[in-house]
Amino acid sequence: MLPILYLPLLFPLQVAALMDGLSSTPPMGWNTWNKYGCNIEARLIRETADIMVSKGFLDAGYRYLNLDDCWQSNDRDYDGNIIVDRYAFPEGIKAVADYVHSKGLYFGIYSSAGYQTCAGRMASLGHEESDAINYANWSVDYLKYDNCNFRDGISGKERYKRMGDALKATGRNITFSICNWGSENPWEWADEIGHAFRTHDDIIASWESVLEILDVHAQVVQYGGPGHWADPGMLEVGNGALNIEESRTHFSLWAAMKAPLILGNDLTHMSDMIYDILTNRKVISVNQDSLGVPARRVVHVAGNLDIWTGPLSGGSVVVVIVNYGESERQIPFTDAIVDYYGEKIQVEDLWTGKTSQMKEGMMLSSPIPPHGCTMLKLTNGTSIPYSDSLTSNASKNHYPPEIMQNDIDTSKLEDVEQTLYEAEALVNVVSGLTLRYMDCLSWSLCGDYWTRRWGLRLRINDGEETYVYLRKIGDLKAVKEFSMGLYLDRDINSITLDNPEANGPSMDSIILKKHPNSNFNTSKGAVWTTGFSSEDPLAGDHWILYTLRCIVDYMLDAAIFACGISTFGFVIYLLYGYFSRLYRHVYQPVGDTDIGEYTLQNVSETNTSIA
Ligand code: GLA
Repeated sequence: MLPILYLPLLFPLQVAALMDGLSSTPPMGWNTWNKYGCNIEARLIRETADIMVSKGFLDAGYRYLNLDDCWQSNDRDYDGNIIVDRYAFPEGIKAVADYVHSKGLYFGIYSSAGYQTCAGRMASLGHEESDAINYANWSVDYLKYDNCNFRDGISGKERYKRMGDALKATGRNITFSICNWGSENPWEWADEIGHAFRTHDDIIASWESVLEILDVHAQVVQYGGPGHWADPGMLEVGNGALNIEESRTHFSLWAAMKAPLILGNDLTHMSDMIYDILTNRKVISVNQDSLGVPARRVVHVAGNLDIWTGPLSGGSVVVVIVNYGESERQIPFTDAIVDYYGEKIQVEDLWTGKTSQMKEGMMLSSPIPPHGCTMLKLTNGTSIPYSDSLTSNASKNHYPPEIMQNDIDTSKLEDVEQTLYEAEALVNVVSGLTLRYMDCLSWSLCGDYWTRRWGLRLRINDGEETYVYLRKIGDLKAVKEFSMGLYLDRDINSITLDNPEANGPSMDSIILKKHPNSNFNTSKGAVWTTGFSSEDPLAGDHWILYTLRCIVDYMLDAAIFACGISTFGFVIYLLYGYFSRLYRHVYQPVGDTDIGEYTLQNVSETNTSIA
């Protein structure tokens, strides 16, 4: 595991997005599939169009009303045109599209880059041009293009490009949503072909599904941007088993990640709370922010918490803090975690509307219910870019919340290569450095076999090298901490850790803590590995400590060995006793099987003769 503690927020990937002006912000609308599946008909579309306008969804930004699968029959006519399902849409699709347009909405349709749609209806592979012309003739504004039922080994890129080109050739503005579930790495090619690309298989209306999607989407969300949005799937708010807090979290994260906001619930029947979630203007404005930079997951502790953050236009920043736990709690965060600094940062809670001020670079969220979130907009600060060389290919970010409780984390960490970790710290005071690490699979590869420790070389700025010895844990899943003291002597200090003799340790995170007591009697640039809150009393690279470590470890080994030998001896002893008894039992002469009785008879004979 080679995680990065900090991810830069200011470096959206440079990609060649479609520059046709469509989808400069993520598409917003409603789609039939999540609630109705194949049970769709013209009446539902008209009713939904009415409600989208009368209940203010259109005003809130939801412009598209999209048909999903099952508007088609499973056949084409003699001219090669898809035959519409005449039971569901007796007047054809154009009539429905006209009605939707008459309400001021846009109209969307669905097909697949295969021979049949996922529900087995007629799809578009090999008929891209004629289907696109039909869509244009029907005044379609949006195409969701699925990935079912293709054969012949044609790549996704090729199949989607064919339809993308066909849509362009019609001359009509049609937003093209690539729905290939993240297969064939659409983030590598979809931006040149469509306006959105799915990153995961279908969402279902459950908390587990939301979490599963987040874990995948977090790794590719940064590939989205204006004109080419990364799409984690349509919304399930108001459907199925999501409770109100889970729904709010789902919506907040989709908004912050700049996902297309495509509703999928019954708009005619929903609670006021669901309605309030779906139409929260402040949250929607984060999604539709003109900067178009998706929030990134900067802190993740599975089953515990998430912090997502990303820049907004006008120099603001959005922060979403998620409580994955099962009880209500407050979660702290710092200016360094959200990469936003300043003396007078204003914090606005986008769900409660409350505002406050961040104090000394540290903030405690409001109490967050289980599976709930706090969504904040920070203004009046500034983001300090860390380094142009930072890459954005980190996958797992770990964050130890307990450490944040009273301390200020000012470290920014970059994973440079396998055995090298570098951090920069914007402080010049006495500090504590905590390394959180995990066991290595093989100590002969990773550590000092004889002392059962990793010898990790540490250097502060250009100072002298010192070694830190991380102790073996014995549990591959556990994370252990090692803390030491150090004195930093500049505004920006560089901290380098590596293992010149073996592989690098599996570092979970490197945390720099300002120490409340700055009266340490130390010289500048000093590092001290004892006397601080270390879990290893024998830390340090002095020869006495080294010898003591060997003695302790070998005494332990010797004790274990002695225990093993005595247990073995005892087992042998028991086996010996058992077998020797068995031997005597089996080989007694016939008629003389009870030695005790035989002896007694002799004794009684003897007694008799005395008498
Ligand atoms: C796929 C898509 C869904 C939906 C169905 C329709 O599973 O991913 O979003 O469109 O097909 O059959």
